[in-house]
Amino acid sequence: MNLIYIDPPFDVGADFSMDIAIGGETFHKEPNLLEQIAYRDTWGRGSDSFISMIYERLILMRDLLAEDGSIYVHCDWRVNAWMRCTLNEIFGTQNFVNQICWRRTTAHGDAKQGARHFDILDDTILFFAREDARKLWSTQYVPFSDEQIEAQYNKFEAGRRYRLVTPTAAKPGGDTSYEWQGVTPPKGRYWAYSKEKMEEFDQQEKLYYSNTGQPYIKYYLDERPGVAASTIWSDMLLAPTAKERVDYPTQKPEALLECIIKASSNEGDLVADFFCGSGTTAAVAEKLGRKWIATDLGKFAIHTTRKRLIGVQRKLKAADKDFRAFEVLNLGRYERQAYLNVGGRLSPQQREQALAEKEREFRELILRAYRAEPLDNDGFFQGKSRNRLVVVGPINLPVGRLFVEEVIIECRKRGATRVDVLAFEFEMGLFPAVLGEAKGKGIDLTPKYIPAEVFDKRAVDKGQVVFHDISFVEATPRYTRGKSARDKRTVQIELTDFSVHYNQGTAEAAIAALKDGKNGVICDRGQLLKISKSKNGVIRREVLTREWTDWVDYWAVDFDYQSRKEIIKVPVGGDVGAAVAHSEPSAHPDGEVEFEEHWTGGYIFENEWQSFRTRKQRELELITAEHTYERPGRYTAAVKVIDIFGNDTMTLVPMGGRLILWKQYSLWGLSGSRKGYKQLNGHRFICTFEGKSLFKRQRRLNLWPPVRLSENY
Ligand SMILES: C[S@@+](CC[C@H](N)C(=O)[O-])C[C@H]1O[C@@H](n2cnc3c(N)ncnc32)[C@H](O)[C@@H]1O
Repeated sequence: MNLIYIDPPFDVGADFSMDIAIGGETFHKEPNLLEQIAYRDTWGRGSDSFISMIYERLILMRDLLAEDGSIYVHCDWRVNAWMRCTLNEIFGTQNFVNQICWRRTTAHGDAKQGARHFDILDDTILFFAREDARKLWSTQYVPFSDEQIEAQYNKFEAGRRYRLVTPTAAKPGGDTSYEWQGVTPPKGRYWAYSKEKMEEFDQQEKLYYSNTGQPYIKYYLDERPGVAASTIWSDMLLAPTAKERVDYPTQKPEALLECIIKASSNEGDLVADFFCGSGTTAAVAEKLGRKWIATDLGKFAIHTTRKRLIGVQRKLKAADKDFRAFEVLNLGRYERQAYLNVGGRLSPQQREQALAEKEREFRELILRAYRAEPLDNDGFFQGKSRNRLVVVGPINLPVGRLFVEEVIIECRKRGATRVDVLAFEFEMGLFPAVLGEAKGKGIDLTPKYIPAEVFDKRAVDKGQVVFHDISFVEATPRYTRGKSARDKRTVQIELTDFSVHYNQGTAEAAIAALKDGKNGVICDRGQLLKISKSKNGVIRREVLTREWTDWVDYWAVDFDYQSRKEIIKVPVGGDVGAAVAHSEPSAHPDGEVEFEEHWTGGYIFENEWQSFRTRKQRELELITAEHTYERPGRYTAAVKVIDIFGNDTMTLVPMGGRLILWKQYSLWGLSGSRKGYKQLNGHRFICTFEGKSLFKRQRRLNLWPPVRLSENY
């Protein structure tokens, strides 16, 4: 990496909660458990814990930086002294470059409240280099102030402002002791430019001679880049009404990042921000043609960054400029792979045993978090909770149809009718069909998401881990009615339903806590409710999320989801987990670790179309633009919905192309399976999807040529 900028959460507690506007009201979303834990880790012991959190991360960042790379660390008066010491220790005092004073606001105004100190208007940005010999640098300029222009550029020539500057310097260097037009520099001074350069000035008529014959150079204002930027940055405020605002409480101005990125990276370089918040660094890096990596612990931050970057891409596209595709990766998946990784030099048998042991421990942890009673002697179900059987899905894979079918069979064997299936991920498109199937067989099957918080032992011990029900997305393909070959490959997808099951406190608790004459917004069983208490204690409830669309903040479609497999590299002979928590180099003293490609079993979602709400644009489109497949055939589209809390859900939509009824008119020589044939009015028909496979099948069954009976059946 060539440049890292970080703006860690130095403003105690400001980061993880957020206000969500809905129906003219504001819902205050509390931090989720993972965020509360991060907050505790960061601030639990005040600045001590903050510094120890950042220390570990800064060491990793130093290792990620290229030799000529730089790091800028944003902090405020609360932590800047410790941060400087920490950076000195990690990067070395010799690599300290600057301490920048950024004016973040014009006035603070607590003087009126009787503050007995000076207003604090600035943050500090500490700039360190990876190595002393920092090559990557490009001077930045700020425009001259009006006062500077008036005071310095006060001479005029043909309407142009200029100033006179002596071409002498206090120190010699190079070819600087010549005689120019019969004059030499005053005693103790030297020419600041070579004779060649002076000749160039002369030719450009930029030399002015005083009465004593001393030359001066004319600096025209319109040719000057401005003043070289100093360490005081006072002209980069983010106005409350600035267009770039995305309603993220700790958002920094793009001008600030622009100065940093331009000064310390070149086009095509890789820029990173590991506390990206609203994505300012990534947005500016993209605009300036840099590659970027942005990470954040908060889902809302990642979601805000995603929307912001799509906005940047759209603008670049409209301006006919290049932009990069980006991918959003989820830590959760890697976290659990890392959890199950069994390192060290083990025989295959030992490894197998160690993995089984880990997996057992892990299931126990999940059951404990779910507050289920373990069932030690049951081969299939691992626990029991409130009269329901509990089964934990495979650790490394999404729960699929086969697994659910097995659950149903095992329930029937035992005569059980209620079961909870806990999983990190469910295969896409599994619900709601599979629930209907289970119901049809008399089984009440409830899928629940295992939240990432199960990794935190403290949260498990305190019984704070909440397992959410799955959200539900329904999307419907809309085929065009046209007759041309192109029309037949053209489709739109409409978002037709979405529901969630969140809770944040209960209505009863909110009512009990509410004072007379006050109101509050709560989230109860998948609804946002406004609860008001009149002056005489009468309670009113108003549902704010009246339409299902109120929950949707963003939705996106990948029209051909299964065309891009997710391939990762794992050490040869290792498993997927090893790709992440791969062995330390010391575990391979014999040489380099060799990698091989491995399909994770997942696919890469590509945003081919999306609609989302922004601060200004609150409306959502519910039907995509038309999409035309290059070839006829069957595809699987994926529809991803991100709700107003920043959580995402996905569903798969089979895109059949057109279902066509073909008349089988020749039975002569028929061989092979007759499955799929329909008897209708005494004729035999084949009903199939349009596409090449049809013709192959027809040929194989000797039904050639087929007679097409219907369009769009
Ligand atoms: C001050 S904000 C960054 C704002 C950002 N510079 C911008 O312009 O929008 C700090 C961010 O750090 C994130 N954060 C807090 N603790 C974290 C951790 N341990 N790891 C990663 N991100 C964390 C918060 O979610 C928050 O978005």
